[in-house]
Amino acid sequence: MNVQVNVNLKPFHTFGIDIPCDFLVEAANVDDVIDAYQNPQWKQLPKLILGKGSNVLFTEPFHGVIITNQLLGKKVTESDKLFHLHIAGGEDWPSLVEWTLSQGIYGLENLALIPGCVGSAPIQNIGAYGVEFKDVCEYVEYLDLDTLTITRLNSDQCLFAYRDSVFKQSLLGKVVIVAVGLKLNKAWKANLSYGPLQAEKDILTTPQAIFDLVCDIRRSKLPDPSVTGNAGSFFKNPVITTENFNRLKTAYPELSGYPMTEGGVKIAAGWLIDRCGLKGHQIGGAQVHPQQALVIVNAGEATSKDILDLAWFIRQTVSHKYGVDLEHEVRFFDSEHETNLNNIFTENHV
Ligand code: FAD
Ligand code: EPU
Repeated sequence: MNVQVNVNLKPFHTFGIDIPCDFLVEAANVDDVIDAYQNPQWKQLPKLILGKGSNVLFTEPFHGVIITNQLLGKKVTESDKLFHLHIAGGEDWPSLVEWTLSQGIYGLENLALIPGCVGSAPIQNIGAYGVEFKDVCEYVEYLDLDTLTITRLNSDQCLFAYRDSVFKQSLLGKVVIVAVGLKLNKAWKANLSYGPLQAEKDILTTPQAIFDLVCDIRRSKLPDPSVTGNAGSFFKNPVITTENFNRLKTAYPELSGYPMTEGGVKIAAGWLIDRCGLKGHQIGGAQVHPQQALVIVNAGEATSKDILDLAWFIRQTVSHKYGVDLEHEVRFFDSEHETNLNNIFTENHV
C-alpha cells in the first residue's frame, strides 16, 4: 500500500485546483482498502474513497485519508446470448469502452469518453446519448465498511435512477465499490434514441460508427479536463412537476421537456443557464463554459471559493428567473465531510 503525506490533490481531481490533503493512499487490492480504513493510526480521521476525481470539488483542505481506487482486472465469460464482464472497480471507464469494442463486445459505445473509474459508474448511474449504466449492469460488488465483507447487489437492488442509486442514498459513506458485472448482448442493436444520433441514423450502422460520433460530439461540446479543469455537468437536469413544466412552457414556448417514467418532466439546466445570459460569466478564475452553460471551468488559477461563488450565483439567478432550484451533480467535500451549496451559503457565509 503506497501512502503519501501532505499531498497536493491537484492531479487527483479534474478541476485541477491546488488543495492539500493530509494522507493519500493508493489501494491496489481489497486488502489495501481494508488496511486504510482499519489502520489504528488513522482511526479518528475522516476517510474518502476517490476514483479519478472527475465529479468532485474539494471546498477546503482535506484533513483525513484519501484512498484512490487502483483495483484492476477484467474477466469475460459467455452465456448463450450474453457476454458477462466482471470488471474491477479501479479500471478506467473510457478505456474499458474502447477495449470492449476491440474485443468485438458491443453495447457500451454510447457511453464512450465518460471520465472516471468503473467502480464510480454505478454511483450516479452514469449516462449519455440515450444509455445509462443501469442498462448494462448485471451486478455491483461492494466492500461493507462495517462488516468488511463483500456483498453483491443485482441491478434492481441498486435502485438506479437519473444520476442516482442506492450508493448515493442508504449506502452513502458505508461501502467501497470493488467490482461491477456488465451484461452485453451478443446480438448488437444500435441505441439511437438520443436526438443527435437519430438524425444520423443512416450512417450509424456499426458500434464503431456510434463510438466515433459520440466521441466527436463530446469533444466538440465538452472541455477536455487535461487542458481546462472541469467536472462535466455541474448541475443535474432538473425534474419538475408537469404543472410546473406547463407553466414554464407557456412563458417560454421554446423550452423542451422529457417526461420521466418515474413521473415529472426533465428540462435542460444548460438551456436555463444559457437563457439567463450566463455563458462566459466569470467570478475569479471560475467561468461558465462559453460553449456549454452547464459546465463550470477552471479558466486558470480558480480557487474552490471561485467555483462555489459562481455555482451559487448561477443557482440564484436561475431560481429567480424560472422558479427552478438547480441541484449540483458534482459532489462537494469540506475538510472532513460531504457538503453542498445550501450548507455552505446558508449556514456558513450568510
Ligand atoms: P470521483 O469523482 O472520484 O468520485 C465521485 C464520487 O463517488 C465521490 O463521492 C467518491 O467518494 C465516490 N466514489 C468513488 N469511487 C468509489 C467507490 N469505489 N466506492 C464508493 N464510492 C466511490 N457523468 C455522466 O454521467 N455522464 C457524462 O456524460 C459525463 N461526462 C463528463 C465529462 C467530463 C469532461 C467530466 C469531467 C465528467 C463527466 N461526468 C459525466 C461525470 C463523471 O465522469 C462521472 O460522475 C464518473 O462516474 C466519476 O468517476 P470518478 O472515478 O472520477 O469518481
Ligand atoms: N443547451 C443550451 N445551452 C447550453 C447547453 C445546452 O441551450 O449552453 C441545450 C441544448 O441545446 C439541448 C439541451 O440544452 O437542447 C441539452 O444539452 P446537451 O444535449 O448538451 O446535454 P446536457 O443536458 O447539457 C446531459 C448530461 C451529460 C451528457 C449529455 C449527453 C446531465 C446533467 N448532463 O447534458 O452528462 O453527456 O446530456 O447525453 O444530465 C455529466 O453528467 O457530467 C454530463 C456531461
